[in-house]
Amino acid sequence: MLKALSVTAAATLLAASLSFADQAPSKVVIPVDRTASTDAKQMYTSYCAPCHGTDGKGHGPVAASLKSQPTDLTVIQKNNQGKFPDAHVAAILQFGAEVPAHGTATMPIWGPILGSMNRANVQDKQLRISNLTRYLQSIQVK
Ligand code: HEC
Repeated sequence: MLKALSVTAAATLLAASLSFADQAPSKVVIPVDRTASTDAKQMYTSYCAPCHGTDGKGHGPVAASLKSQPTDLTVIQKNNQGKFPDAHVAAILQFGAEVPAHGTATMPIWGPILGSMNRANVQDKQLRISNLTRYLQSIQVK
């Protein structure tokens, strides 16, 4: 069985990567490539789909090796009385997911990573977060 995975997000100026290492031998690295802040689908595909899946339902290629299963992102609205909680989602992207009192978040904290992509433009991180939030809103089931 897999032991607890440690998820580290290493953001450097140009290339950032997330490593998922359990006690060897398995180690999954998701490269955090440069993306356009205006292209939410490109950001989603690069940064989120490895865990949450291309369709958002939580079955990305690395999901099986994680301790906590990635949330089905298409039912956020359905689970919130039919109203998409955009401020809540944006806060999760900025500061990380809420976890049970005794749990450890597996979901990376994206704020610092997204913020590292264009430090010259202070608006860039918020633009990325709001475009990703809008993208998630667009994939909600009715
Ligand atoms: C390392 C795998 C991984 C990656 C990459 C990842 N997530 Fe997650 N995400 C999770 C896990 C696991 C959870 C469930 C909470 C936890 O255990 O941390 C989660 C939870 C969430 C939630 C909370 C849903 C809710 O209803 O509370 C949102 C929103 C979310 N992720 C969006 C994203 C977005 C957008 C991206 C890309 C920028 C992303 N995630 C990338 C693993 C990941």
